Amino acid sequence: MSSNNEQSITLPTGKTIKVNTGLFINNEFVDSIDGKRFETINPATEKVITTVAEALSNDVDKAIDIATETYVKVWSKVSGYDRGRLINKLADLMERDIDELAAIESLDNGKPFLLTKAVDIQLSIKTYRYYAGFADKINGELFQTESDKFDFTQREPYGVIGAIIPWNFPIMMQATKLAPILACGNTIVLKTSEFTPLSALKVAALIKEAGFPKGVVNILSGYGPTAGAAMASHMKLRKITFTGSVPVGKSILKASAESNLKKVTLELGGKSPNIIFADSDIDEAVKWAHMGIYFSSGQVCVAGSRIYVQDSVYDEFLEKFKKRAEGTKVGDPFKEDTFQGPQVSQIHYNKIMSFIEAGKKEGATLLIGGEREGEKGYYIKPTIFTDTNEKMSIMQEEIFGPVAAISKFSTVEEVIEKAHLTRYGLAAAVFTKDITRALKISKELNAGTVWVNCYGLYEPNVPFGGYRESGIGREGGESSLNEYTQVKSVQVHLGKFMF
Ligand code: NAI
Ligand code: MG
Repeated sequence: MSSNNEQSITLPTGKTIKVNTGLFINNEFVDSIDGKRFETINPATEKVITTVAEALSNDVDKAIDIATETYVKVWSKVSGYDRGRLINKLADLMERDIDELAAIESLDNGKPFLLTKAVDIQLSIKTYRYYAGFADKINGELFQTESDKFDFTQREPYGVIGAIIPWNFPIMMQATKLAPILACGNTIVLKTSEFTPLSALKVAALIKEAGFPKGVVNILSGYGPTAGAAMASHMKLRKITFTGSVPVGKSILKASAESNLKKVTLELGGKSPNIIFADSDIDEAVKWAHMGIYFSSGQVCVAGSRIYVQDSVYDEFLEKFKKRAEGTKVGDPFKEDTFQGPQVSQIHYNKIMSFIEAGKKEGATLLIGGEREGEKGYYIKPTIFTDTNEKMSIMQEEIFGPVAAISKFSTVEEVIEKAHLTRYGLAAAVFTKDITRALKISKELNAGTVWVNCYGLYEPNVPFGGYRESGIGREGGESSLNEYTQVKSVQVHLGKFMF
């Protein structure tokens, strides 16, 4: 291994990419203190891509100490304008290296290369630019007072913020956390998912190249129960932000309560209903619903996994949806026309397959799919269940795979009641040409996002987060500024003591 833990990775295209595989601490790629490393797998081939340094709690301590010191001595003195310039510079470099970034993401996660480039990375760049613009516009308020008072608030950074991200949209999740956290003036220790450590290491090199002072951004590869848990219970972190599963989200909240009551932002899972009324444009609804559940192999927190179709168009919708699902191009992420790549890991493949088995046992009808695609790689055929009910695990649990459950409904009241029969509330969609109905239902649905006549659209400037057990807090738009700053009220008395 050469210096900086640099390793050469050969893509299926024959091109070679260099990635520094150390822990990114203080703008250097270093070995972990105990020298541990772990393998990351290409889910399309089931082969090891490379190994990366593995952070344990002592590395977490080290990164948090450096990020804390950097905040106090360096980053807190950098102006919003300069923070914004650095974030924009990072966005420029990501644009320059977009092909490499998309390739490494695709290799490590199994996402189709072209979609990753067009969707994930473009949206990430947009996110960095959006928050770069905010860096010098994070203001407090001035309040109306008695004539001898002067009261105002200022928004202050927390100092160092811990962020833990999942594997399903690695670059995008980095952007969602890094961009606002840095714009707000915090330093950061970010832990990536053990399944997809590579793209963040590529971004780390760009962070260094962009000129961020050392210690502002620290990126650790590592596992949840070790490095992640060490962050969640760390006494020096005053804020943690997490995206991932509900059980882990709860464990982070618990760790916060049992340590120092650090503030917690949670973006968790969902079991989102997609409601299709008879008066909608069925062909359009089929396309959106297909994307809603099969995009990124169904490994999407907002996946439209429960599709409710009004009875009079149920047969027509089902026939068209089935045809489109069967026509989904599943396969090699580097092939141009691939829409659906493999699932991220063997563990996750097994988990999805066990849900499919449960669905069959519970009495749902497996219309198509439900089995492996091909011989190698963790591919699962687009799957449709019908004859489902809300008691079934496939209607309750976040499967996080290419598994759609399609049900029939007749009235608005009925479908809203069914839509609410889970513990989640991340997203929902409604398809109808009736604007009054669309707005009424949007109002009634317990969901952090409601799409009307579309599915899964995401904009960096629009708040995003969950009702119920789908999370705490809102990211996106100006909401992230609330999550990553704390408000200080200052009350000034201008006159003499009043009594
Ligand atoms: P996860 O929630 O276990 O992992 C997400 C992140 O949390 C990773 O960085 C992981 O290392 C970390 N983590 C795990 N255990 C931790 C702990 N005890 N303390 C601190 N950090 C910890 O998700 P996983 O295992 O990768 O996937 C399991 C299921 O979670 C999926 O099948 C899916 O249903 C759901 N999920 C939901 C996501 C979403 O965006 N809503 C994203 C990823 C997974
Ligand atoms: Mg991998």
